[in-house]
Amino acid sequence: MGTRRRRVSVIRSRSKPVKWDDLRMEFISKCTGETISNAAQALINGHLVAFPTETVYGLGADATNEKAVSRIYSVKGRPVGHPLIVHISSINKLDQWATDIPDYAIKLAREFWPGPMTLILPRKKIAQDFITGGQGNVGLRVPAQPIALTLLKKFEELGGLGVAAPSANRFGAVSPTSAEAVQEELGDYLAPSDLVLDGGQSQVGIESTIVNCTNSIPQILRPGVILSQMLTDATGIEFASCNFDSIKVSGALSSHYQPKARVIINQEPNSGDGLIALDIIKTPKGVTRLSNPKNLKELARQLYAAFRYADNLKIKNIHVNLPVGEGIELALYDRVYKASQSTSKSIV
Ligand code: TXA
Ligand code: MG
Repeated sequence: MGTRRRRVSVIRSRSKPVKWDDLRMEFISKCTGETISNAAQALINGHLVAFPTETVYGLGADATNEKAVSRIYSVKGRPVGHPLIVHISSINKLDQWATDIPDYAIKLAREFWPGPMTLILPRKKIAQDFITGGQGNVGLRVPAQPIALTLLKKFEELGGLGVAAPSANRFGAVSPTSAEAVQEELGDYLAPSDLVLDGGQSQVGIESTIVNCTNSIPQILRPGVILSQMLTDATGIEFASCNFDSIKVSGALSSHYQPKARVIINQEPNSGDGLIALDIIKTPKGVTRLSNPKNLKELARQLYAAFRYADNLKIKNIHVNLPVGEGIELALYDRVYKASQSTSKSIV
């Protein structure tokens, strides 16, 4: 296993400092056009390509190629039947995959794509059972990270229709926010012909907001940095509260996003523990500071890397100090709470 890890190609780029201002972003990346073209061709040829998005890294495959998609499940160790998000290059491709698109979904797509939002919509035939988990709907997203967008455009120029991509981690583990983290998670499972595109650190750091658009009233199925209030402002519609009964969202399992260490929310850390907290909070003596963000956006951006850092240091307890609120706090609480649930409750 260990020797295979080294043979997977990681295409490196150095990304410059990035701004995520009012949910608009500027990215500068140095992945060359040629490396991205090769990756697009690899997808067409049925290989897997892990690529950066602004939320987390995705493990991509041609969404119309059943064999390639089945490799996503085996590489991730994910149970079959969990639906995958299809990534497309623009809102103009939406009706290739979805039908009966409500007006409010068009408004959301116009306002927030490219960006960290996934829409669940009634599927067209092209979204086959192996993508949707047999459900009559499909998850679609236009990511904002330029390497991802270029990859999708080149893939479409070669005749591709969409790239299925879950987060590039083993099932139930922490999503990767850097190419190194993808290697750490999946290096033992990827084949030499698969690729990892390196676009530096993901700037949002937590997964997209998922909105169920299959009913007259939309619902948020997974909170993210695009907040309920922003969705309401864009559409004039109040959102229904979450209902996970009728729809399969694997992130809705009670334990998910888990580091090896135990995660504890809003309690006092002891000597030997790790601490993730805003920089205004001091580090008690003997405690290892894992992340020192200035604000909540930075906390989101650094959260998963801080979990990984703790595991690499073999820290047993990670304390997370989370402010309470109705903004990004909700998405942070969702991820940290799920990370805090013991694996014995288990992921099925
Ligand atoms: O930010 C993100 O969304 C990242 C990047 C790579 O785009 N992707 C991601 O994918 O988080 P994944 O598979 O790790 O989480 C997507 C969630 C899963 O819980 C899945 O069950 C749900 O979205 N999902 C996907 N398609 C769906 C569908 N048709 N109906 C209901 N839930 C769906
Ligand atoms: Mg995931």
